Amino acid sequence: MKWTGLNELREKFLEFFESKGCLRLPSFSLVPKDDNSLLLINSGMAPMKKYFTGEVTPPRKRVTTCQKCIRTPDIERVGITARHGTFFEMLGNFSFGDYFKHEATAWAWEFFTKVLEMPPEKLYVSIYEDDDEAFDIWTKEVGVDPSHMVRLGKEDNFWEHGSGPCGPCSEIYFDRGDEKGCGRPDCHVGCECDRFVEVWNLVFTQFCKEEDGSYSNLDHPNIDTGMGLERITSIIQEGETNFDTDLFLPIIHAAEELADVKYAEDKMAYRVIADHIRTVTFALSDGAMFDRAGRGYVLRRILRRAVRYGKNIGIDKPFLYTLVDVVVDNMKEFYDYLPEKAEFVKEAVKKEEVAFHKTLSQGEKKIKDVIAHSDNKVIDGSTAFMLYDTYGFPLELTIEIAEESGFTVDSEGFQVEMKAQQDRARAARGERESMASQKIDLMDFTTPSTFVYDT
Ligand code: SER
Repeated sequence: MKWTGLNELREKFLEFFESKGCLRLPSFSLVPKDDNSLLLINSGMAPMKKYFTGEVTPPRKRVTTCQKCIRTPDIERVGITARHGTFFEMLGNFSFGDYFKHEATAWAWEFFTKVLEMPPEKLYVSIYEDDDEAFDIWTKEVGVDPSHMVRLGKEDNFWEHGSGPCGPCSEIYFDRGDEKGCGRPDCHVGCECDRFVEVWNLVFTQFCKEEDGSYSNLDHPNIDTGMGLERITSIIQEGETNFDTDLFLPIIHAAEELADVKYAEDKMAYRVIADHIRTVTFALSDGAMFDRAGRGYVLRRILRRAVRYGKNIGIDKPFLYTLVDVVVDNMKEFYDYLPEKAEFVKEAVKKEEVAFHKTLSQGEKKIKDVIAHSDNKVIDGSTAFMLYDTYGFPLELTIEIAEESGFTVDSEGFQVEMKAQQDRARAARGERESMASQKIDLMDFTTPSTFVYDT
């Protein structure tokens, strides 16, 4: 595999599918149009639902896009795993009643093994457990070694989005090697660790899910594929994670200039900051705005999370707005409208940061108040959690302020409260990351949930 930059990779994908007759469309806005079911566009197919149902005639039956997407159900994993992010670009090719499984599988394999020169022995393919047709196509026509085929259940390999077009899917995984794995003897495709990275999802949209939960066959089966540019970039650039690529490193390096510690010393904080400022920059450029509810509230929480991680690396003043230009510079080759939005985005981010710093200083007053009225020199778990949840105070910050006054913090009590909140959220959204989790309202992340806000 040859090191390839992000712009070239994106271009190679789009050109490849143009060579297969697909029409290249620009990314749709992150703000959904005529679709109340989503706060933000979360997949390549989401803005094209009406082409799939036939309600609107597509400009061509074959289309390829690089779609801006935002997903937040896994926000707490950002920076912990190699591959989670809230903003990502989804490379996709789509067929609206035109080509189907034979072509979609063969072309995916051709793109990986011929264009990107990925070694076939590193690739694994999962299919939906009942989809014998896909098994035969992959093994007999495309030539995948049957020992590299895995059958997975509905949770992983069936794409559906409420009612409407849906179907079994097939995912291509890249094996990053033993050393990236969890070490469990039964580590396998589908394991949650960083060894087998799911790179490309091919959805064979052949059914329609009716309101009553039954499935009917679509007259014209469709193809919807999606591959995260960040994941494929990290594989091709052999980055330790998605963040160790030219998509994120310029932002990380710019943040290093402002911080007390280097990237290597607190990778999580830098990764969160780099991810979140991309999300905010793209969303605001598409017309979204911070708000008390809905889409704007999601963005507000994302920004506040980044501010808090900034504190972890010693940045105690508004700074995210200064990273907007870095995001714009890095992405403007493909998203050429970004430079003209940059000033507006910077101003909005700065205003939001300033307001949040004010909230944080109220929290500081609150801690001092607790300290002044305590007689046992301990800040209990529920108070520490209230400071975190309501005022955005990371536990470390509470500990630091407490220690200055000779206090300790009941960290275990804090964790108990935190776990209870996470359990509540998890119960609300189902067990684990899955195709199904993508149905979940984008509001569904837990930290922090009830910030005071006073502008
Ligand atoms: N819609 C599918 C996904 O988001 C394939 O593009 O993974």
